Amino acid sequence: MNSIVTNEYSIHLDLDKYLALNQYIDSLSPSKIVVLTDTNTHQYCLDYFVSKLDIKCPIDFKSIQAGEQFKNIETCKELWHYFSEITLDRKALIINLGGGVITDLGGFVASTYLRGLAYLNIPTTLLSMVDASIGGKTGIDLDMLKNQIGLIVNPKMVIIDTHFLNTLPEEEFNSGVAEILKHGLIHSESYWNLVSNSKIVNNNSLKEIIYKSILIKKEIVENDPTEKNLRKKLNFGHTLGHAIESYSHLKKGFQPLLHGEAVAIGLLLACHISHNLLGFPKEKLEKLVQGYNYYFSKISFKKIEINEILNLLKFDKKNLNGQVNFVLLKDIGSYSISDEVSIELIHEAFDFYLEL
Ligand code: GLY
Repeated sequence: MNSIVTNEYSIHLDLDKYLALNQYIDSLSPSKIVVLTDTNTHQYCLDYFVSKLDIKCPIDFKSIQAGEQFKNIETCKELWHYFSEITLDRKALIINLGGGVITDLGGFVASTYLRGLAYLNIPTTLLSMVDASIGGKTGIDLDMLKNQIGLIVNPKMVIIDTHFLNTLPEEEFNSGVAEILKHGLIHSESYWNLVSNSKIVNNNSLKEIIYKSILIKKEIVENDPTEKNLRKKLNFGHTLGHAIESYSHLKKGFQPLLHGEAVAIGLLLACHISHNLLGFPKEKLEKLVQGYNYYFSKISFKKIEINEILNLLKFDKKNLNGQVNFVLLKDIGSYSISDEVSIELIHEAFDFYLEL
């Protein structure tokens, strides 16, 4: 499998990926490397990763608490203080070894310290391999608002090693599948058929799927790095998905959802709204329902909870002039942005979900 070369950096998936990494570090000759992990990747991924390094420069290791609730300014401050204590200079390199929280937060902390340190991403979850680690979006949550603070700064290199997926709990794996299903929906019939015709599991064909998903994201991001238009389609399912995810963490007693678990519900709701507004084909919506049932359990929402979720839509990053902008699909691969999604249509979509 060849490396994927973007305008600014390379994504290595091939057998020589660690050779490429070691050569890059050698050529950069950083004053120090900090490998950032969370408590999970520190335990399950760090030793393996370090065994692949063949470098001469000094190296430090820093671990933070695992979990979306730590993707905040307090954790950033902890890391900036730590960088300061170990006297990192501008020639330091940060290596983010982890899932979406580590690559988002680590990229943000690196990009803001001393006005910007170089960073690399070594994603260890399916979700971060196909989505979070590529495209340069870095950031943290503002209380319950997802990724409200951040910058777009590209990593210098991304290494995709599917070995890490063997350490992943099933629900974390399935969370990543939601983003792959999204890529199928927004890209093409052929990719949609590949990812929806049978259950995606951790086997050899997964590597091909990861490769294709990364290519799809890379092409979109290269054409619109700062999300002026085309990149918005990567947010398909995320308007309601983010609101549901935030709500699930905010509301006492509600089951906290993983990003992909909330996005999967968001995909179903967005496809239902797309069906009602733009005629998205019913049989494709049904296929998505089937896919949803392979990986996810139904979540129940009370009417009042749905209303509270809708209240969070006013914070969506795609909003303009106070209007909530939804990404919708006319068909697989054919998207449009609409500010005409009524509250009634959203309630109908929730009713459809609740009746599945
Ligand atoms: N995760 C959506 C994007 O990178 O644009």
